[in-house]
Amino acid sequence: MCGIIGYIGYRKASEVILEGLCKLEYRGYDSAGIATLDGGAIRVIKDIGRIDDIHKQKDFLQLGGNTGIGHTRWATHGGVTQKNAHPHSDCSGKIFVIHNGVIENFDGLRAEMEKKGHRLTSETDTELVAHLIEEEHRKEKEFGTAFAAAVSRLSGSWSLVVLHEGAQEIHLSRNGPPLVLGIGKGEMFCASDVPALLPYTKQVVFVEDGDRARITKDGFEVFASGKRAQRKEHTITWTAQMAEKGGYAHFCLKEIFEQPSKIREALAADVGAAVEMLREKGSIAVVACGTSYYAGLVFKSLLQKKTGISCDVIIGSEFAYASAGREKIVVAISQSGETADTLSAVKLAKKNGAKIIAVTNVVGSSLYRQADANVVIGAGPELAVVATKSFTCQIAALSKIALSLSGDRKTLEELKMASEQIESVLDRAPEIEKLADRLVKRRDFFFIGRSLSFPSALEGALKLKEITYLHAEAYAAGELKHGPLSLLEKDVVVVALAPADETFAKMMSNIQECKARNAELFVLSDSKEALAKAALHFQMPKATPEAIPIVYAVPLQLLAYYMAVKLKRDPDKPRNLAKSVTVE
Ligand code: F6R
Repeated sequence: MCGIIGYIGYRKASEVILEGLCKLEYRGYDSAGIATLDGGAIRVIKDIGRIDDIHKQKDFLQLGGNTGIGHTRWATHGGVTQKNAHPHSDCSGKIFVIHNGVIENFDGLRAEMEKKGHRLTSETDTELVAHLIEEEHRKEKEFGTAFAAAVSRLSGSWSLVVLHEGAQEIHLSRNGPPLVLGIGKGEMFCASDVPALLPYTKQVVFVEDGDRARITKDGFEVFASGKRAQRKEHTITWTAQMAEKGGYAHFCLKEIFEQPSKIREALAADVGAAVEMLREKGSIAVVACGTSYYAGLVFKSLLQKKTGISCDVIIGSEFAYASAGREKIVVAISQSGETADTLSAVKLAKKNGAKIIAVTNVVGSSLYRQADANVVIGAGPELAVVATKSFTCQIAALSKIALSLSGDRKTLEELKMASEQIESVLDRAPEIEKLADRLVKRRDFFFIGRSLSFPSALEGALKLKEITYLHAEAYAAGELKHGPLSLLEKDVVVVALAPADETFAKMMSNIQECKARNAELFVLSDSKEALAKAALHFQMPKATPEAIPIVYAVPLQLLAYYMAVKLKRDPDKPRNLAKSVTVE
């Protein structure tokens, strides 16, 4: 949802910013721009398209100076045009702003600024902020105070980063979307996410909601409610290498292949505080979006099966309507820890008196900081827009919570075998690639599973539609006969997850139903009997029932990946999507 980076120090700012933007491109990639302060004047290069392409055409590195800001955009306000690309300036061209979020009182403020003679040239809400600052700066000479006055007029959500010609400094404000400061020696950074900072520093400060900050090459100041505020420094354990492709063609493939080692880390997660909280009596809700929601469905099943405790799993954006408002504990699952829908559900739950358990990948994220107990899934930076390793790591960590609560050490030990089982699937990735060849001309896909395979079916369909743009949907296998069967015919693909577990006999009947409607079957199973039912099949390793949602997710991720590549889609940056959705 837009990537932001700012630099001030002794290096060439455009170089640092360009490198940082490439690391943040997963947050938005419809346009990009950089502004630097060089010899007292600000120069800008911005355009539509991918950062690399803009750089090839316009050469960002021609921008000199040691202070600058950069932005990669995922349009929310105004179409994808060069004019709407950030940074945006005021009338004088001396104040430049980049922004992530949405200014909700845009219309009224724009009319007011235009009445005062400001000329706005884009359709964005961001440009308005530059003019508001200009207006306030006419009355108030101290730039930070003028910036604060401008921000006080805004409603909505934002992280704002401002460069001006008056001084070697960068001003920031946060109300919603994330902002992190990176602390160096004789240099400072700011960014929407940590990977952009990793080549330079591991010392960071997370800017909190409501904070305003100023950075210079010598340090930073944070202000909250108009007063200086102290913010804790954190040391990041991620390395710069973790945020590289490491020889893989795409981040997506690298992240799929990292799963065996990352699952081990997820299963080593400290779940103690979360388990203690869940022992307290009272109603529990799980809240999450997208892939994380599917991981929540696995948690619900396991919790119920292993402990008898029941819970609701509520989609983040539905929480305000669906929650009874009486939850004692809310388990919020979010890879990024910055998903606006999940965060607003958490805010509401807290207001209603709930305690929050966060299951997240990002230490220091908004969700992490708001939680009463944290479980860190240990997946490491996930830079492909689509979730892969974070899904399986979420399930591993959530399973550990459920199994620790029930004291089922044996199953927890068995779950550790999931890493080897995934390795054996990854070793046979070329088989999946060949299957992708066979399926690449098909246009409609149905994924079916039962019990713990059902969330994997949902995730398989989501992966396929996200990165191939093909039509894919998932059903609990028993639901087919209640409607969707009418859609099955020749050339419609049914991907059936049929582990030899308690669901097997009924899955076999569902497979027969699909065959009888001439659908093209692709069966994944550890049973020869099931595999024999379909020309297209993949033999799965035998897995303990609790490991099935983890292990069965992997061939489906590979299938989506190889099909995307064959269809010439970019598996790291699917159209219309951005990672870390920081607007509701
Ligand atoms: C799917 C995907 C999204 C996210 C969803 C929640 O591949 O990445 O569906 O799972 O936007 O994101 P987090 O987990 O960061 O809250």
